Amino acid sequence: MCGIIGYAGKKQAAPLLLDGLKMLEYRGYDSSGIAVFDGGEIKMSKAKGRLENLDVLTDGGKKLGGVIGIGHTRWATHGEPSDINSHPHVSETGRFAVVHNGIIENYLDIREFLTAKGFTFKSQTDTEVVVQLLEYYHKGDIFETIRKTLNKLKGSYALGILAVFEPNKFFAVRKDSPLVIGLGKRENFVASDIPAVLKHTRSFILPDDKDIAVVDGNGVLLYNSNHELVERKRFEVDWDVESAKKNGYPHFMLKEIHEQPKAVEQTIAACIKGGEIAFENVDYSEEYVKKLDKLYIVACGSSYHAGMIGKYFIERNCRIPAEIDLASEFRYRRPILDENTLTVVISQSGETADTIAAMREAKEHSSRVLAIVNVVGSTIAREADDVIITRAGPEMAVATTKGYTTQVLTLQLLGLYLAGKLGRTGGEYAKYLEEIKCLPSAMQEVIDGKEQLQILASKYFGNDKAFFIGRGNDYALALEGALKLKEISYIHAESYAAGELKHGTISLIEQGSLVIACLTGDELYDKTLSNAEEVKTRGALVIALVKRGHTAIEGQAKHVVELPALSDEIMPCVAAVSLQLLAYYIAAARGCDIDKPRNLAKSVTVE
Ligand code: AGP
Repeated sequence: MCGIIGYAGKKQAAPLLLDGLKMLEYRGYDSSGIAVFDGGEIKMSKAKGRLENLDVLTDGGKKLGGVIGIGHTRWATHGEPSDINSHPHVSETGRFAVVHNGIIENYLDIREFLTAKGFTFKSQTDTEVVVQLLEYYHKGDIFETIRKTLNKLKGSYALGILAVFEPNKFFAVRKDSPLVIGLGKRENFVASDIPAVLKHTRSFILPDDKDIAVVDGNGVLLYNSNHELVERKRFEVDWDVESAKKNGYPHFMLKEIHEQPKAVEQTIAACIKGGEIAFENVDYSEEYVKKLDKLYIVACGSSYHAGMIGKYFIERNCRIPAEIDLASEFRYRRPILDENTLTVVISQSGETADTIAAMREAKEHSSRVLAIVNVVGSTIAREADDVIITRAGPEMAVATTKGYTTQVLTLQLLGLYLAGKLGRTGGEYAKYLEEIKCLPSAMQEVIDGKEQLQILASKYFGNDKAFFIGRGNDYALALEGALKLKEISYIHAESYAAGELKHGTISLIEQGSLVIACLTGDELYDKTLSNAEEVKTRGALVIALVKRGHTAIEGQAKHVVELPALSDEIMPCVAAVSLQLLAYYIAAARGCDIDKPRNLAKSVTVE
């Protein structure tokens, strides 16, 4: 996903812009660029490839004077990665420069319209139509110019705009793409995400869609679409800069795996107070919960896998139907929604396009929407009716780890919260409430035992395929384990419900096939043990994840990874750490770009 940044203040802008772009690298990119205004003209430098190329080109930014500037990291959507397709894009006369995150869906129509007006285009990008529209519409009033341009655009955008006739400021505007405004001391910033400017400020404002931000060194003015000055929500960020850095770890992913016990502890502390479960921004009446006849749990990727565990937990403890859906399917299948349906959307980034669309679909059909997100101020966090913020803190690696386990935990806490509203606090309720508090130490124990996973990785990193199997929660765990492995090691890893093997997949099992069998649940242990035996007799090499004390597996598995023994329902967060570490060490042994895997982005803001 692209990243944008903007600066207005008293310091030389270019070095600050470069520094900020480095904190946006985690989003995935293939080129970068910056543009500054030096009082006379717009100066620009951009390059394909890593940010180091831009750094060298501009001598760390020193070659570009000026105290106003915008910058960009590009994740190509229209036009291959190249110098000319990199942002910023400058208008024909050089009066405007633009950086953009998002997609202009009608860019071909606009390109045709402007070409007919005599404009020529240098790049293959959708973004270039924005800067040329500004040129076309400008007759003197910059707000009118920007408004007319925005009215022409269909799609999503977070824009940074430089205009030579506005020498001491720059403009920024968003629609359906993330944008934060950072308020410093005699300097102000915009960025796609908080880490880009966290070094300079902890105070942020979130503009609404189509608010035009006018940013200079003295302050920020926000105008709504009726050109009225508006105030928007200001908030302070309690992260520290270090939490957005590697702190000595070789990769963000390994750091974030190690941060999980603390992230889980913080999530528990935020939601369990005096033995009661309470969420800061969620307060459902007993009457509302009792009237619910269905939950939809909707997400993508790892968030979907977390949702599966939430489904099982909520249905078992609340006896409310909880349907799990991939957001990209949900949004097109005309789901049956009404005021007695609660739609839970899960998204670490809060910016996933399909999940945003699913949320809007639910809201359009009278379903209340509860969002579980990790990024304050994200689009989903702002538009949902109710929001639970997971306490994972900034997650920079594309492969989610602490974002995922804090989602699983939050869904289990939500299940207990709803059960409490339904008066279903008998049975396992009290036990789960107690055991959840053991999660941080149990996860730390798995991390402390990482050497076994390093050894397994050294044995099997050369494999080109792997199967993950499990039942119930272990099936959801197997899905997540397969995704972790495939997305960072590029090994073809697939997951199957263990009971499904005999319906086709077992034909793929041959001598030496690597099968990771997830048997962390007592209830279905024997069933999955039989599946492990099935694949072993056909030549598979089984690595089994079990609770400590299960010895029967030793006859079927080549390797057994023993885990701290908690209730079946509480095991997913514990077992996930093993699979994350296994995937990490295999990818490291294969020399993969672990934090920025090929073709992937930290949040997928396009369909
Ligand atoms: C997880 O490791 C992947 N990077 C990916 O599947 C991710 O979970 C998915 O894109 C959803 O992202 P979100 O949670 O930010 O919506």
